[in-house]
Amino acid sequence: MTEELTPPNIPVEFRPRHIALVMDGNGRWAEQRGLKRTEGHKRGEAVLLDMVAACQALDIPYLSAYAFSTENWRRSADEVRFLMGFNRDVLTRQKMWLHERGVKVRWVGRRPRLWRSVLRELESAEELTKNNTSMTLFMCVNYGGRAEIIDGVREIVRKAQRGEIRPDDITEKNFHTFLDEPTMPDVDLFLRPSGEKRTSNFLLWQSAYAEMVYQNKLFPDYTPQDLFDAVEEYAKRDRRFGGTK
Ligand code: IPE
Ligand code: IPE
Ligand code: MG
Repeated sequence: MTEELTPPNIPVEFRPRHIALVMDGNGRWAEQRGLKRTEGHKRGEAVLLDMVAACQALDIPYLSAYAFSTENWRRSADEVRFLMGFNRDVLTRQKMWLHERGVKVRWVGRRPRLWRSVLRELESAEELTKNNTSMTLFMCVNYGGRAEIIDGVREIVRKAQRGEIRPDDITEKNFHTFLDEPTMPDVDLFLRPSGEKRTSNFLLWQSAYAEMVYQNKLFPDYTPQDLFDAVEEYAKRDRRFGGTK
C-alpha cells in the first residue's frame, strides 16, 4: 500500500507537525453490515498502519492515535474485554513493522484499570522502538484529557505540600511537564472521521489551538487519501493564535 502513496505537495511550513486522530466509527461500520461491532475494530488495525505510512509520506513527525478512552469502560463488558485484548495483540503483531519503519512508540494514558498484559505490550513496544527517529506514534490507551490534567494537578499539589514548588512556578509553558507525555508537542491538526463533531476528551490541553477537521467516513473505510485531504484543508487554514495577520 505504502509504495503507491502520492502525498500532496505542500510546503513544510504549511504541514502539521502533530496530528491527533480519533479512530472512530468502527461499531457503526460493522452494524451497517450486520456484523458484530468487534469486526469494525478489527478492520481498524490495517487502517492505523496506513495512517502511520501516510504521515511518513508527508514527513509528519507526530501522530497521536486515540485507541481507548477513559470513558470507554462504560461499554459492555464483552466489548471492553475485546478492546483490551485487541490493543495488546495489535502491538504484539505490529511492533516489529513499526520498528522497521523507524517509528518510536510511546504510550499515553492512565495506569489504573488498564490490563497488565496491555501495559506490558505497550512497554515492550516502547523499549523496542526507543531509539527510532523517523516519527513518533503516541498510542493513547486508557487516555482521557481531563484525567490527564487532574493527574498533573495532583502531582503539582503533592510537590507543593513537600515544599518543592510554589504556585507561581506553574506556567502555561511548563504545565505540560506534568502531563502523561511531557515530550508531546501541541496538536496542529485534530482529525475525526465518523461524522461526529466533538473531541470526546482527547488531548484537551494540547489541542487548545488545533485546527479541527471532521470527515464523514467511518474509520474502517478511512484511507491515506482522506488524511491527505485533511492536511490540504489544514494547509489552507489561517492560524492566528488570537493575534492578527
Ligand atoms: C471507535 O469506534 C473505537 C473505540 C472507541 C475504541 P466506535 O466503537 O466508537 O464506533 P462507533 O462510534 O460506535 O461507530
Ligand atoms: C472516542 O470515541 C474514543 C476513541 C476513539 C478511542 P467514542 O466513540 O468513545 O466517543 P463518543 O462516545 O462518540 O463521544
Ligand atoms: Mg464512537
